[in-house]
Amino acid sequence: MKHHDGEPRPAPGPLRYAQCWEDADVLLEALDVQPGDVCLSIASAGDNSLALLTRNPSRVVALDRSEEQLHCLALRIAAYRHLEHAQLLELVGSRPSARRRSLFERCRPDLTAAAAGFWEQRWADVERWGIGGVGRFEAYLRLFRRWLLPCIHGSATVQALLRAGTAESRWRFYAQRWNTRRWRWLIRMFFSRSMMQRLGRDPAFFRYMDGDLAGHVEARIAHALQDLDPAENPYLHWILTGRHGEVLPLALRPQHFDTIRANLDRLELRCQSLEDFAGGGDRVDACNLSNVFEYMSAADHEYTYGRLLACTRPGARLAYWNMLVPREAPASLRGRIEPIAPGTSARLHAQARAFFYSRFVVEVVR
Ligand SMILES: C[S@@+](CC[C@H](N)C(=O)[O-])C[C@H]1O[C@@H](n2cnc3c(N)ncnc32)[C@H](O)[C@@H]1O
Repeated sequence: MKHHDGEPRPAPGPLRYAQCWEDADVLLEALDVQPGDVCLSIASAGDNSLALLTRNPSRVVALDRSEEQLHCLALRIAAYRHLEHAQLLELVGSRPSARRRSLFERCRPDLTAAAAGFWEQRWADVERWGIGGVGRFEAYLRLFRRWLLPCIHGSATVQALLRAGTAESRWRFYAQRWNTRRWRWLIRMFFSRSMMQRLGRDPAFFRYMDGDLAGHVEARIAHALQDLDPAENPYLHWILTGRHGEVLPLALRPQHFDTIRANLDRLELRCQSLEDFAGGGDRVDACNLSNVFEYMSAADHEYTYGRLLACTRPGARLAYWNMLVPREAPASLRGRIEPIAPGTSARLHAQARAFFYSRFVVEVVR
């Protein structure tokens, strides 16, 4: 498949994301899904597509152009069906486990041969890290946690960071104990463009990027560690400890387990690009678009956005993230977007605990 301007897609390769690194609470508030709605959701590892099921939509089309990403969602679906909640957490890696093999065997009959083979290939990693820990991006974060962070902060300091406190105590802790010169040096080095490109993110992402990646990450981390409460941040817990803390990402919370399980049949997995989906006949009310527009040239973004508008119903909501490539409704199509309450996107962005993104965009179709 090629872009309409003939640019090649990134070659299929190893799994990039074994879990969604986008805040599901923020996404759900933005999309305001109503019972019976049809949702389009970029699948990634599937967590946020599952989260949408908690709002009782009639259908969630979980779309990804990478088959490997859909294998992640397929195993999660089988796990919701065949495991109990605590076992699901063990399989994902939110909690330690010595029985992932037997949990997997209970899910396996629901998987295609390709999906089962995919998981077998990376079984040693699943045993160690859980199914949420086996992507390239998680391996990159692990490198940080296991080999670099200990040179800067010992485990007592990390545990102190993750303990609940007041806003004032967080600011003090960050200034006096966490934000040392060595910490700033580590961030600058580890989140440099070349390092992230080599070890973590899809190289296609960097093609349209222009800016100070490490500086951006440093500011976002400062926000996540001071303004937000680290004790309530499951994404930060995973980065610093390799597990989720007491507070889990939305789809993994016990109170949502039964609803998600009951609605699994409403999920439809499609290995397809957004561009191709948008040319088809589906009509949707809510779109979780991850940050896919950042991987497109400005011309492709405009083209795809226009096609997407053609398959949304009036009042449909689009939600997506920007990291370093600025993407919002293209100027030529802005007339087709309703103004929403000023500050909505910025307010939601400030709440996002998966802190990599510089901007969250929420748009409502006229
Ligand atoms: C854009 S990436 C970002 C991942 C995300 N930030 C996370 O942490 O989970 C999410 C998913 O989008 C998929 N993707 C990227 N461009 C796409 C497109 N044009 N159509 C469909 N899927 C796409 C990738 O395969 C990947 O699984």
